[in-house]
Amino acid sequence: MSIVSIIGSGGMAAAIGGLATGAGHAVEVISRDAAKARALAEQFGVGAITGTFGAAPTGELVILAVPYAAVLDVVKQYGGALAGKLLVDITNPVDSDLTSFVTPADGFGALEIARAAPADAKVIKAFNTQFSHVLAAGPVEGHPSLDVFIAGDDAEAKARVSAFVASLGLRPMDAGQLSMARTLEHVCLLSLGLMTYSVKHTNFAIGVSLVG
Ligand SMILES: NC(=O)c1ccc[n+]([C@@H]2O[C@H](COP(=O)([O-])OP(=O)(O)OC[C@H]3O[C@@H](n4cnc5c(N)ncnc54)[C@H](OP(=O)(O)O)[C@@H]3O)[C@@H](O)[C@H]2O)c1
Repeated sequence: MSIVSIIGSGGMAAAIGGLATGAGHAVEVISRDAAKARALAEQFGVGAITGTFGAAPTGELVILAVPYAAVLDVVKQYGGALAGKLLVDITNPVDSDLTSFVTPADGFGALEIARAAPADAKVIKAFNTQFSHVLAAGPVEGHPSLDVFIAGDDAEAKARVSAFVASLGLRPMDAGQLSMARTLEHVCLLSLGLMTYSVKHTNFAIGVSLVG
């Protein structure tokens, strides 16, 4: 098992980090608030350490678990400290109206992150289509594993993220190149629409049903 670094100490950091430590991974929690990082690492227990915000993360795989509104600044602030890292973009760049995006019309979140990151960092979109509390709840008896859609240009990096996802008891579903991250970001709007108009709560998961 390898070290996975998580930048952020909120709901998604807690959900993914909890699954990761539960699966035997070492997790490095990094927050701009060192006390919050320590508290989350203590919650994870064995296998969790804290890192220094802005310093090179220990893990090769770095999960960007901060709001989209902050992520470009965070990535720029890290600068060369993220060189060569595999950056897992879990963000949803949804505007406050919950029906549109804050990203440029000709762009999407993962692309903006790739543009802000060092040239040799590899950006993979993943985890953005599942709610944090649904991930955190873990497997539900009688229901299939949750699907984690993945998009990225680097096959090796994508395989690495897929293996990490599978190790958490989730089902990795490769959706294609990084350009597909735009579509995965739209899935967030689908979830919000379903939540508002049909499901009426957030205890659901978007996934693929194989019927043949
Ligand atoms: N929640 C979900 O169900 C869900 C599902 C899929 C994807 N996502 C995405 O996952 C990401 C994290 O979501 P979340 O629910 O974990 O959010 P959250 O609970 O609000 O946590 C956000 C984390 O980002 C940190 N942060 C905020 N602004 C920052 C800045 N300018 N510089 C450095 N750190 C900053 C916060 O630090 P402080 O605690 O110090 O403020 C906190 O640790 C978001 O991009 C979201 O779109 C969320």
